[in-house]
Amino acid sequence: MRCIVTGGAGFIGRWVVKQLLDEGCHVVVLDDLSNGNENNLKDLHCDRLSVIIGKIEIEEDVAEAFAGGCDLCIHLAASIVVQDSIDDPAGTCGPDTLGTLSVLEAARRHDARFLFVSSCMVYDLTDLDHGIEESHPTKALSP
Ligand SMILES: NC(=O)c1ccc[n+]([C@@H]2O[C@H](COP(=O)([O-])OP(=O)(O)OC[C@H]3O[C@@H](n4cnc5c(N)ncnc54)[C@H](O)[C@@H]3O)[C@@H](O)[C@H]2O)c1
Repeated sequence: MRCIVTGGAGFIGRWVVKQLLDEGCHVVVLDDLSNGNENNLKDLHCDRLSVIIGKIEIEEDVAEAFAGGCDLCIHLAASIVVQDSIDDPAGTCGPDTLGTLSVLEAARRHDARFLFVSSCMVYDLTDLDHGIEESHPTKALSP
């Protein structure tokens, strides 16, 4: 199976990439290294792993990542500093949302499965007695 992991050089991405490689997948990481680090992937290097330094909001970078095909796209790339989304909404939400759309479109063109990693912070966290499910009411506390 061929997998693309956006944000694959980040904190969570590194472990996702490791798991996919352990399961025998071919993995392409697309990461601009704005918060990730190639060293996170250093001990994972093998002929089934390629790393593209690029941005999810740049179509050519996304096209390069998808060029060899894709069965599964795990989308982890995002600006994760909440304060940045408050101080500079256009500068953070623009790349995040447009980039996500660009990756979604590429996944659709390749008929790939798509896993989007959100955050529990999109939900109304005042009533957690019954845990959180996807149907839980949303009430984001930040952009
Ligand atoms: N770590 C957590 O506890 C947590 C909790 C809830 C949700 N999440 C979500 O999981 C995902 C991964 O989080 P993480 O903790 O691994 O963060 P991280 O910052 O370590 O990883 C994100 C990666 O995305 C890359 N990136 C950022 N903007 C990019 C862009 N425009 N184009 C290409 N690459 C870009 C960064 O360089 C980084 O390597 C994020 O979407 C985050 O919101 C994380």
